Amino acid sequence: MAATRISHLDDTFYKKADAFFTANSKVGLTYDDITLATLYSEILPRNTQLDTTLADGLQLNIPAISSDMDTVTESRMAIAMALNGGLGLIHYNMPEREQLSQVSRVKYHVQGLIQDPIKISPDQFIGDVLKLIEEKKFGFSTFPVVDEKGKLLGLLSGHVVKPRYATKKVIDALTPRKAVHTITKKELGKDPIARADKFFTEHIGIHKLLVVDDDDQMLGLITMSDVERITLERKAQFKPARDAQFRLICGAAVSATRNAFGGLDEKRILEHVSALVERGVDVVAVSTAHGHSKGVGDTVKVLRDAFPKLPIIAGNVTSAAGVEYLADCGANAIKVGQGPGSICTTRIVAGVGIPQMTALYVCSRAAAKKRVSILADGGITKSGDIVKALTLSSAVICGGIFAGCTEAPGEAVEISGKMYKHYRGMGSLAAMKSGSAARYGHEKADTTRKVAAEGIEALKEVSGSVDRVLAQLIGGIQSGMGYLGAKDLEQLRSKARYIRVSPAGQREAAPHDVVELKTGN
Ligand code: IMP
Repeated sequence: MAATRISHLDDTFYKKADAFFTANSKVGLTYDDITLATLYSEILPRNTQLDTTLADGLQLNIPAISSDMDTVTESRMAIAMALNGGLGLIHYNMPEREQLSQVSRVKYHVQGLIQDPIKISPDQFIGDVLKLIEEKKFGFSTFPVVDEKGKLLGLLSGHVVKPRYATKKVIDALTPRKAVHTITKKELGKDPIARADKFFTEHIGIHKLLVVDDDDQMLGLITMSDVERITLERKAQFKPARDAQFRLICGAAVSATRNAFGGLDEKRILEHVSALVERGVDVVAVSTAHGHSKGVGDTVKVLRDAFPKLPIIAGNVTSAAGVEYLADCGANAIKVGQGPGSICTTRIVAGVGIPQMTALYVCSRAAAKKRVSILADGGITKSGDIVKALTLSSAVICGGIFAGCTEAPGEAVEISGKMYKHYRGMGSLAAMKSGSAARYGHEKADTTRKVAAEGIEALKEVSGSVDRVLAQLIGGIQSGMGYLGAKDLEQLRSKARYIRVSPAGQREAAPHDVVELKTGN
């Protein structure tokens, strides 16, 4: 019992959120300005639960969202996020119809199905195929063979893709259609991996299953090694985030689009969101730099009236009044963050914004009254920041942390022997030229006056797959929860106690007075 009794001395130094932030109301605090006090714990990190509800009908299995930025979230990132239990918000710096097909790609993603496998045509030579493998550095040598209309003709097996057959034509070497194992997408059913797993067990020695439609058009390919990897992953603690029909969840950002007369283009916004809903989008995010504004409020109201059940994220704000306004307009989850982003210059350019922990505290209290959730958007650089953010919010939105991942849009570039990916603010001049100007209250075609960029273009070191990055972050969140004796995120929010950190304390918090060795990577 003694272990759980809170000593008065602790209470004097380590304060609960209301007491702490009120006592520090004269200063804006961010992640590194504070630290969390440990508490008696019976909770092992690995037993902590990370599921979070952002709105009725929108539940994540981990509290992480990838930013709606054009160098962060397109379909590949959204698929990876949802497979890990989180959510990706597809950005809007692309034609509307392209955003629709990006959402479709996520919603119709069949895990383990290679949707666009490399195909070979029947009149190629085996030598051409060998050259292709060499050029593209493929680690496989079996290919479906299709005619010019995409109809399946057979399978070119790796056994015949050998230099000795280089002058033979593919048509003479392929395993013919009738001898190739196929399955239709319908037959794969709700759990394609379980179905494919059963197939591979029943067909000894067969390692590839081709997926076709009723007209024998090639739709994709499932390999036994992928099925085995995924079956192993299924034992993982955090399940993919899926909708009621077992599809991966996906979000899309929309802007408060204006018409030629400067008014809100309600018709266009409604048409686009209707099309997104038809494709199965799970949440839309009305994303702007200044969410406590008429344009954003009106957009949210229009959407709420038209789609009473659709979860709506809106932002960004940093004030209680901003949260109340967006909640009253109909938003379910509100993005908090003005100026914390790693590529953001809003505070420098506009002199505006609030350090993130203070902003989260103020907004969280308004959100609790309005029964909406808040999302901590921007400024997260390490898992410890996420733990601190989650003491006041329902999830975090990250850009920079995911921008170096393989699944982020764009190719990696090599600079002085290191690999980097481009990462840019949606308020950078380059991104605004590609369409995001409205987010920062500017016109895309505004050439008559200088437009002040509120973001920079940058590089992020390549960081591997989303799986790997999230595994690190989740490990950190779970450790933090273990230290606080919190078995779930609700307990983390109610138990957290804070203290400010001095500049010397900040230095003490990172490795110091040593030369770091990296042998375990
Ligand atoms: P990060 O995770 O610290 O890199 O911050 C990402 C967040 O910064 C996004 O989710 C946006 O809220 C915000 N953001 C994106 N582009 C800009 C910009 O150009 N200026 C200011 N903030 C931005």
